[in-house]
Amino acid sequence: MAQEIPAIKVLSETEALQNLNRHKHPSRNYAAMYSSWLGGITTDPNLMMVPIDDHGFHRGDAVFEAMKCARGKIYTLDRHLDRMRVSASKIGLELPPSLREIAIETTRASNLDTCLLRYYVSRGPGGFTTNPYESVGAQTYLVITPFTPPTESKYQAGVSAKTSRYQVKEGFFATVKSCNYLPNVMLKKEAVDSKLDFTVSLDEAGFIAEGSTENFAILTDDDTLLVPGFERTLRGITLTRAMELASEDPELKKRIRTVSHGKFKPSEVLKAKEAFFFGTTLDCIGVREFDGQAMGKGLGSARARCASVQPSPANRHRVRPAFCFVALTSWHR
Ligand SMILES: Cc1ncc(COP(=O)(O)O)c(C=O)c1O
Repeated sequence: MAQEIPAIKVLSETEALQNLNRHKHPSRNYAAMYSSWLGGITTDPNLMMVPIDDHGFHRGDAVFEAMKCARGKIYTLDRHLDRMRVSASKIGLELPPSLREIAIETTRASNLDTCLLRYYVSRGPGGFTTNPYESVGAQTYLVITPFTPPTESKYQAGVSAKTSRYQVKEGFFATVKSCNYLPNVMLKKEAVDSKLDFTVSLDEAGFIAEGSTENFAILTDDDTLLVPGFERTLRGITLTRAMELASEDPELKKRIRTVSHGKFKPSEVLKAKEAFFFGTTLDCIGVREFDGQAMGKGLGSARARCASVQPSPANRHRVRPAFCFVALTSWHR
């Protein structure tokens, strides 16, 4: 029997707003959004929208950052903004001067202590072609959403991963954090479809690159933290911070002799002592299983956690440079 097609109506403004209100979409829980198109911050989920002719939407012509705010402090805000400036300058996109202030004020308006900031600067609205010059000008959008970190048991158990059938992006596109993320989407889809936590892309020569939205590294037999080069992967802020800490933190120094960039293949992951994913929403999480085989040489994986300094009421929304404490504990299977 033919499926009945609902009436396709031309809506009045009232009807359109009523229809928006009936959605049970997660956006109902989004706490605050800044939009340069709106000209300020809104806490009304119905207004958290992007124009359909924004080139960020229809062509992926935009740059973005995801940051976390933990206990009222935005973690490594300046590093994220610097990376956004690098991405924007690579694609010739102008950023507003007030990115930092927008981040702080929108987070304040969200009334959330622990949240994610998703920042987008797009080419802006105006026309539907690939031509970036038909836009009326770059637009800035920032949305603050609740954030629930992975559970402690996930860190204890470690994650499962495999090499992906999708190759890493070409250097220029891998190093620009743009909204052109279809390859990354496919990596994540592949992981979900395979009932794994993550997949990792390789380059043309079969060397490990990165995950969908996370960096990857191994701890080799001689206690080197070996990190794929940032010419083919995103310069992850979490991984960069972990690399710094590996040579600063006394606990980490006991486990990691040296830190270096280098190429390695999936077969070397399986021979490594440990393997890790790094990223804003994870911090660092150890790998339990790679390409269907158990990881490690009896030491198992490890975990590293980043935490912010306990904020006082006075500095609740003052943004400080990153303070990161890493506890790396081995676990035994
Ligand atoms: C492709 C890619 N690699 C790595 C990362 C991890 O970067 P960060 O630690 O700055 O979150 C991300 C973050 O979204 C990413 O998109």
